[in-house]
Amino acid sequence: MYGDLAPWFHLLTPPGEYEDEPAEILTMLREGIDGRLETLLELGSGGGNVASVLRSELRLTLTDLSPAMLALSRTINPDLEHISGDMRTLRLGRVFDAVLIHDAICYMTTDSDLQAAMTTAFEHLRPGGVAILEPDYVRETFEPSTDHGGSDSPDGPGRPLPRGLRYLEWVSDPDPTDSTYQVDYAILVRNDDGHIDIHHDQHVEGLFSRSTWLRLLHDVGFDAHDRVDDQDRVVFVARRPMGEPNR
Ligand SMILES: C[S@@+](CC[C@H](N)C(=O)[O-])C[C@H]1O[C@@H](n2cnc3c(N)ncnc32)[C@H](O)[C@@H]1O
Repeated sequence: MYGDLAPWFHLLTPPGEYEDEPAEILTMLREGIDGRLETLLELGSGGGNVASVLRSELRLTLTDLSPAMLALSRTINPDLEHISGDMRTLRLGRVFDAVLIHDAICYMTTDSDLQAAMTTAFEHLRPGGVAILEPDYVRETFEPSTDHGGSDSPDGPGRPLPRGLRYLEWVSDPDPTDSTYQVDYAILVRNDDGHIDIHHDQHVEGLFSRSTWLRLLHDVGFDAHDRVDDQDRVVFVARRPMGEPNR
């Protein structure tokens, strides 16, 4: 999905569908921060959809593991800073008022990877700065599910139909005793010439209890709490303390 299929990602989740979520992220940032809120670093910024809304309020730096996703993000955020990097190891040598790890934190599948991503967030925050981490599920809220969606290209008519994508998403947990679950996508893409290709994309994603999340955030040095967002998802709000962290 984030490699060969990256150019299709905006047909899977069109940027226009992200308007409410960024507004809620901004509210959580404003409530959680100590001091000014002007700059934000996003880890795993993907297609730049959330960023394309947040950019009117904040100065953004976007980072992702996938050069193809960064290239896609540049198509809708041409003037924003884009940097290639892994959220577990990235070190830019500067700090921001806020860090966002949205629907990319789910790719951390072990305690140590999750803690490494939290440490990256911590190291890029000024004292008083705040990080928002938004997993799709915590262990307590996980439910197997199916979903579907997709869209046609807004770039005008193709031959004989516009370029388009449709998907079926199947969320399951083959082993409830480990820290992962599985998301399988069946993806149909209709090319410019009308030819349809089918892809199976399997994602292994991390699943941790609320208490594990909060313990790891505390171990990294954050003052952290969780809250439930408008979509009933558990979100973690983590502030870097003003003094030296009590690790
Ligand atoms: C669902 S997309 C994010 C979409 C984004 N929230 C948006 O607004 O468009 C998930 C992204 O996480 C990135 N990712 C996965 N593992 C990563 C890692 N270890 N470090 C940085 N990015 C990672 C993928 O390359 C992908 O672009």
